[in-house]
Amino acid sequence: MNTLARAEAAEHALSEELDRLVIVKSVIFTSGERDPRVPVPRPPSEGKRFLMSHDPRLPPMPGKPTLFDFFRYRFAPANHLLQSARLAQKNGMPEKVVLACLLHDIGILGFIRGDHGYWAAQMVEPYVDEEVSWAIRYHQALRFFPDESVGYRYPELYAKLFGPEYVPEPYIQEAHRYARAHKWYMTARMLTVNDLYAFDPGVQVELDEFTDIVGRHFRQPAEGLGLDASPSAHMWRTIMWPTRYL
Ligand SMILES: [Fe+2]
Ligand SMILES: [Fe+2]
Repeated sequence: MNTLARAEAAEHALSEELDRLVIVKSVIFTSGERDPRVPVPRPPSEGKRFLMSHDPRLPPMPGKPTLFDFFRYRFAPANHLLQSARLAQKNGMPEKVVLACLLHDIGILGFIRGDHGYWAAQMVEPYVDEEVSWAIRYHQALRFFPDESVGYRYPELYAKLFGPEYVPEPYIQEAHRYARAHKWYMTARMLTVNDLYAFDPGVQVELDEFTDIVGRHFRQPAEGLGLDASPSAHMWRTIMWPTRYL
């Protein structure tokens, strides 16, 4: 079979697989896309089954997925993260800040925008130093508040995106107050300083640049991320198999 024939055969197999399956978009993966007033079809129509494993529309994951596998097969292209991490490195930041930059928005890339700093912090908490997950959690609040001492201004982009009158909710203001007084404030603040708002589409940063830092600071579980029974393993599984019926 030549390349074209192989591609056609693969596409045919995929469409047959999809014909057999009812794929219900998981609410969390696509929050806002599914109309919550429309009930999920139940039971499935004749001859069909609900999807309970890998979604054939997504690239398959290895049996014991690593952090980088999630970057390759679920978060890609992760230019914003890679460029932020490289900027932190260029600015001579400690490795913990570089790692925090590399991971800070995996909540958005993996499944959800709202409160994404909290989601990402929880995902990585079992595998990183507490200071790293703390910084990721508090970047959620800190990015709304300037700190002139390190040259951080309220992002102009936010005024455009949310309107000039937007005021963060009280829980975000409280989180900011709390973080300001915390011993790790500067770790989280440096994350926001190196969080690139206008990233360069022409710059290609390779994941391999961070192999050593991740090797030193991310405790990769032997069973694979998501299959290791950590308190956040289910979050990684949801990203691996986002459309399982249950
Ligand atoms: Fe963020
Ligand atoms: Fe970001």
